[in-house]
Amino acid sequence: MFSELKLAPSILSADFSNLERALAKCSEGGADWLHIDVMDNQFVPNLTMGPPIVKSLRAITEKFIDVHLMTIEPERLIEQFARAGADNITFHIEAVKNPDQILDLIKSAGCSAGVSLKPNTRLDAILPLLGKVDIVLLMSVEPGFGGQQYISESTSRIKKLKSYLNENCLERVLIEVDGGIKLGNVQEVIEAGANIIVSGSEIFKSSDPVGIIKKFYRIFNNQK
Ligand code: DX5
Ligand code: ZN
Repeated sequence: MFSELKLAPSILSADFSNLERALAKCSEGGADWLHIDVMDNQFVPNLTMGPPIVKSLRAITEKFIDVHLMTIEPERLIEQFARAGADNITFHIEAVKNPDQILDLIKSAGCSAGVSLKPNTRLDAILPLLGKVDIVLLMSVEPGFGGQQYISESTSRIKKLKSYLNENCLERVLIEVDGGIKLGNVQEVIEAGANIIVSGSEIFKSSDPVGIIKKFYRIFNNQK
């Protein structure tokens, strides 16, 4: 059975000159989450946004704010993003030596905790953390930019992780998939076992973001 599927529009592809309008489209479309891509030009070759953006968005939305830290030293940012109003904070396993401590930091800051893997990072890297994480964010593109092509090998990784979670009584851990997800390939991602779908350019580079979000939910609702 498909547990409640959620869409997390990534505002990386939105018009930064008017994020309030982007949020209004997400609300009108009925999106559950907001995905905030934080890049530091160290862990990935791009620089995007920080706690002040989350603080401004928190003031105008009740939506679940899902912060994706594509940064080195995420431990230096957790408290600031939590204070700014993040609901979930996800860090990259490749960026830290002490993932357990980072997870404890995120939880003590009052947020749910996610760990993310780049496409070439083996799933084994995060298996020891599954008792503590709330979300595993599987990257289906190389992190750093919106608008990239979905890496097709991601589908078998989602299936592998889903089987592992089911076989080890870890069904409570959510699988979030991020990168290159469009209306045309989301069915494959859902059937493989994803619970939360991140999509950026498909939504915000279209002339009808509200219509695209509603089409995603029509696909989600057809799973029942
Ligand atoms: C890439 C980001 C993704 C990306 C998704 O590093 O983590 O969230 O913005 O955007 P699309 O859906 O355009 O690939
Ligand atoms: Zn992301």
